[in-house]
Amino acid sequence: MALPPEIRILDNSEDLFQAAAVEFAALASEAVRNKGRFCVALSGGSTPRGLYTLLAKDAVPSLPWGRICFFWGDERHVPPDHPDSNYRMAYEAMLSKVPVRLQNVFRIHAEVRDAEAAVVAYEQDLRTFFNLRPGEFPRFDLVFLGLGPDGHTASLFPGTTALSEKDRLVVANWVEKFKAYRFTLTLPVLNQSACVIFLVTGEEKSDILREVLENPGADLPAQKVRPTDGRLLWLVDRAAASGLPKQTKGNARLASS
Ligand code: 6PG
Repeated sequence: MALPPEIRILDNSEDLFQAAAVEFAALASEAVRNKGRFCVALSGGSTPRGLYTLLAKDAVPSLPWGRICFFWGDERHVPPDHPDSNYRMAYEAMLSKVPVRLQNVFRIHAEVRDAEAAVVAYEQDLRTFFNLRPGEFPRFDLVFLGLGPDGHTASLFPGTTALSEKDRLVVANWVEKFKAYRFTLTLPVLNQSACVIFLVTGEEKSDILREVLENPGADLPAQKVRPTDGRLLWLVDRAAASGLPKQTKGNARLASS
């Protein structure tokens, strides 16, 4: 049953990252207690770097790093050492600084020039790891997502073919404005998650955030993320929330430190 989205407004990005880190720790210890492992899909872009840095600083009670399995929600078609690589960002900010097991880090091999081959390989990694039967989708314990100025999330951009994918777990999505492929988990996978957390900071996101949360008819990719049997949490800072109507702010949990 789709739970109503939770919106939490934090004073600033530091508080937002702290709140996200606390959620991460709580979900990690619960999953490890229940299943022996915690499966998380990381987001890319610039926003989550602050969170990854905080997690690496042990800002929250001891994390079961050895039991955390890392995946990516999306990736750019570049090698892992490229400045645009989402893997590289997470590696530099967190994974290179914490006792994670390398065999638990499942990056998209975006250095493979054949975009289709790269996603076929990642789909196989996911199917093997989650021991999926045909037609089944993986259930991540947690998926972090961001929000682009055009309403995209992961690499699900408005008007792109990936939005209508119903069967595959990950696709190579041609994004005309970048004249490049982006690799992205599909909506069926995102909506199979136990918990999705959007991280949105900065005044420059206030218009699109209002559109996503207040205009159901906008038909934006980020609006299509509604876990069928899981939590949907929007962690936004005051600047990003500045365009939201009073009532939404009133209903949102104002979580100041
Ligand atoms: C990516 C992301 C993308 C990102 C948004 C927001 O690879 O770029 O996964 O979906 O989350 O574009 O990006 P910023 O956090 O940089 O604003």
